[in-house]
Amino acid sequence: MTHPNGVLRTLQVALGERSYPIHIGTGLLSRSESIVPYLAGQQVMIVTNETIAPLYLEALTQCLPETLDVRSVVLPDGEQYKSVEQVGRIWDALLEAGFNRRCTLIALGGGVIGDMVGFAAASYQRGVAFIQIPTTLLSQVDSSVGGKTGVNHPLGKNMIGAFWQPKAVVVAIDSLDTLPDRELSAGLAEVIKYGFIRDAAFLSWLEANMTALRQRDPETLAEAIARSCQIKADIVAEDETEQGVRALLNLGHTFGHAIEAHQGYGNWLHGEAVGAGMAMAATLSRELGAIDDAALDRALAVIESAGLPLAAPAEMTREHFLTHMRRDKKNIDSRLRLVLLNALGDACISDATPPERLAALLDAYPRA
Ligand code: NAD
Ligand code: GLY
Repeated sequence: MTHPNGVLRTLQVALGERSYPIHIGTGLLSRSESIVPYLAGQQVMIVTNETIAPLYLEALTQCLPETLDVRSVVLPDGEQYKSVEQVGRIWDALLEAGFNRRCTLIALGGGVIGDMVGFAAASYQRGVAFIQIPTTLLSQVDSSVGGKTGVNHPLGKNMIGAFWQPKAVVVAIDSLDTLPDRELSAGLAEVIKYGFIRDAAFLSWLEANMTALRQRDPETLAEAIARSCQIKADIVAEDETEQGVRALLNLGHTFGHAIEAHQGYGNWLHGEAVGAGMAMAATLSRELGAIDDAALDRALAVIESAGLPLAAPAEMTREHFLTHMRRDKKNIDSRLRLVLLNALGDACISDATPPERLAALLDAYPRA
């Protein structure tokens, strides 16, 4: 049943005095009840992009109380604009508006906007408040929760950034109505990831409900978003700054980030690269004897059923992969650390993959 304020469920990210809610509901982009309690003061800067602004910016601006000083910045759309230059445009707008330390930034968009706005909030006047209003499935189940913020560098994905938690996450499920199918599939990669790393029952549920999810059945989407956010919230509460268990959230990302960086940001969607990357991690887990053929087949089938690629890009050689993988943030000293599967629903972080086994995988893995 829908609550009068549109909120269907509220989860909590438990981080002591920096705890915050994740409100999940419908119609939340045109009502202020889930947003206003988390504003630090009267100054509000909404940051969005050229695709999302015509869809949702006016509704959001209009619903906020007239007493607030509400401004907006509209950035270009695309992973290739997830850069320190674009964060500079947010800083410029804040300074030009004369915003002080009690201002609040609102990230209205997908993970690219959310990551950049979080970093702008972390750094403006040494840290101001921000609220995440994620509008892609990927950002609703993953990037808006947990406080990882930042930008890409030409030499590596997400290499510049900070941990900075939002004051609230407001998930408007109905914003997915306008999301292209390819982007929905990209978001499903991160949903499947939670099943792989932590929750075999959720993985079975996803196998049974993949068609409904791809048809955007609202109840099924709400369930997938809530279960995903709960798993992420639990992991972040346990290990906010990725000293241990949080690294499991990088399943498929070591291979995936290499694909994204090598192919040029924006050519492969982040979720697509994670999909193929999880298929590579599952295949390596099979090669190392950690999972059996049946588990590998199931893993590949669920990734494929979400509309995600399994094969790696044709032009990427073993050396291309290794060059990027050696820069991965999980590595300690010069040891490559990979997230591998012990079983479906159980992952581990390993720095013990023999280099020749990894090289063999990278040579033999199917290319598109
Ligand atoms: P994105 O932000 O580029 O959004 C995808 C596309 O959908 C864009 O073109 C966007 O304009 C459009 N869009 C967004 N909402 C829409 C809507 N409601 N209707 C129509 N179009 C809409 O990509 P993404 O997949 O949301 O996020 C990927 C980014 O998130 C990557 O940079 C990745 O590194 C980052 N990420 C961060 C974390 C984290 O923990 N901080 C976790 C996972 C991913
Ligand atoms: N998406 C990885 C993390 O939040 O840790």
